[in-house]
Amino acid sequence: MRSPKDFFRPLAVGAPTPVREVPFRPSRMIHFFDPGNEKMAAKVPAIAPTVDVLLGNLEDAVAADRKEAARSGLVKIAKATDFGDTQLWTRINSLDSPWALDDLLTLVTEIGDKLDVIMVPKVEGAEDIHYVDRLLAQLEAKAQIQRPILVHAILETATGVANVEEIAGASPRMQGISLGPADLAASRRMKTTRVGGGHPGYLVREDPHGADTDAPRATFQQDLWHYTLARMVDACAAHGILPFYGPFGDIKDVTACEDQFRNAFLLGCVGAWSLHPVQIAIAKKVFSPAPADVAWARRVIEAMGDGTGAVMIDGKMQDDATYKQCQVVAELADALAA
Ligand code: GLV
Ligand code: MG
Repeated sequence: MRSPKDFFRPLAVGAPTPVREVPFRPSRMIHFFDPGNEKMAAKVPAIAPTVDVLLGNLEDAVAADRKEAARSGLVKIAKATDFGDTQLWTRINSLDSPWALDDLLTLVTEIGDKLDVIMVPKVEGAEDIHYVDRLLAQLEAKAQIQRPILVHAILETATGVANVEEIAGASPRMQGISLGPADLAASRRMKTTRVGGGHPGYLVREDPHGADTDAPRATFQQDLWHYTLARMVDACAAHGILPFYGPFGDIKDVTACEDQFRNAFLLGCVGAWSLHPVQIAIAKKVFSPAPADVAWARRVIEAMGDGTGAVMIDGKMQDDATYKQCQVVAELADALAA
């Protein structure tokens, strides 16, 4: 077990990172709000108890001439609000912008004792995390903050994806990684202009029906984000941190939003961003295991006794490995119920 003091000593570049587990806190939805928008800010006390994570956004979607208003708005809201069990996060501006340093200086100094996690956008490699880690260590020491602020990276550049393993293990402060499909699409020169979700042109078509080559053939849309999500989930699992799907921009398409969130959940993600109150309930439903799946998992666990050997249940073979799969589902249900 690393002591809190270890958080103040960033790992040297290339040092082996101990495998560890981020302490569990429900994080099914990271609900974004613009702290510089007074109408939105006024709703924060009412929204806070309905979400797992509330995030004051300072980066994209906040105009350049509103950056300072957003930063000071977040300080004001954080000082005035009791967030209870709800986590408070912020998304700072990217490290190549003119605002990131002032974001860190102001937020850690003013509300560092209330901030749980700082989300860092456009992370390209371990060096970006080391930079934030060193600054946080200094600022926390100066402000005498006892509880280390954790760091969350957004995976949204091609270089970041190429370096995702080293990002995941860059610091004991690393809490998790989110997929950022909009910036990632631009960085890779993909040809979608949507924020997450699928594209009708990205599909597979069934084979021709024998000799009748003109017969209509079914098409099936594919998940544009499958490869990156799976790669990110592996990197996070290997380093004991948490993977998240990011934003789904088509607020009206609640069905496609639920599908995208569910794909991420099934692949191993623990949550997603919510950009509008309607997405809060979707994330809560999707990222909480379904009662029927939990009941099945508990049945297998019970039948497997000490978790070794094999049993048949309803014609399906269960063994040590399915026991572990079922533990994942049952443990998540228990943790969310606690
Ligand atoms: C999120 O920041 C994204 O770019 O998708
Ligand atoms: Mg982005």
